[in-house]
Amino acid sequence: MVTFSGAGLSAESGIATFRDPDGIWARFDPSVYASQAGFNAQPAHVVEWYNGRRRAVAAAAPNAAHRALANSRATAHITQNIDSLLESAGADPVIHLHGLIGWDRCNAACGYREAIDSSDPPPLRTCPECGELLRPDVVWFGEPLSPQIWVAAESAVVAADLVLVAGTSAEVWPAAGLVELAHDVGAAIVVVNTEATPVSRISDVELLGKAGEIIPRLFDEDYGMS
Ligand code: OAD
Repeated sequence: MVTFSGAGLSAESGIATFRDPDGIWARFDPSVYASQAGFNAQPAHVVEWYNGRRRAVAAAAPNAAHRALANSRATAHITQNIDSLLESAGADPVIHLHGLIGWDRCNAACGYREAIDSSDPPPLRTCPECGELLRPDVVWFGEPLSPQIWVAAESAVVAADLVLVAGTSAEVWPAAGLVELAHDVGAAIVVVNTEATPVSRISDVELLGKAGEIIPRLFDEDYGMS
């Protein structure tokens, strides 16, 4: 079993999702806050916006769904989430398709990366290696995923007999394509989400409701699938 998660997994930890009616992209323009052009136009403003999200992530704790996934026999946890709540719950390995908000990297891609204190994040600053600006180490719209991370995710999915999909609108590609790939190679698809999504049609089992309520019950030791 492999898990594949999105922002809904962390919603009950108090971290905003993106596409719900009160989600991040309903309130903020992704072309400003999730694109290279947006960063280039207002780098200090964009970093301050990420710093607000960093403080929210730093204040959050794993919820019952993170803990249940971490304690399951999943061979890998593929996530679109940029928080580290699966790791905090003890999950291993966690494959972050969209990067980690707790890191900065060189905007000029000189290769420099640095972990930051998300509870007290620094303002915009320059790369100590090359003098260009540092930016949050998350994937923005129009940017490719890390090839190494993508290969790790594909390999995990192809080897899985079951993929548990939790809390994602499955609208962002190529990430959502991993669920299609899993289905195509014969894995069972179990979806836990508060609403139907594009992967509903390829799910073998779809459970509509909150991840923190449903997922722990899936792994109940008396009748669960752990
Ligand atoms: P979305 O906000 O698009 O989708 C979250 C899904 O979780 C929705 O279908 C919600 O209905 C559902 N949901 C909300 N609360 C839930 C709960 N408590 N339990 C279960 N499900 C719940 O978030 P993602 O699918 O993660 O990209 O979005 C994918 C990517 O789009 C993100 O990684 C981000 C964003 O732009 C980057 O940052 C690169």
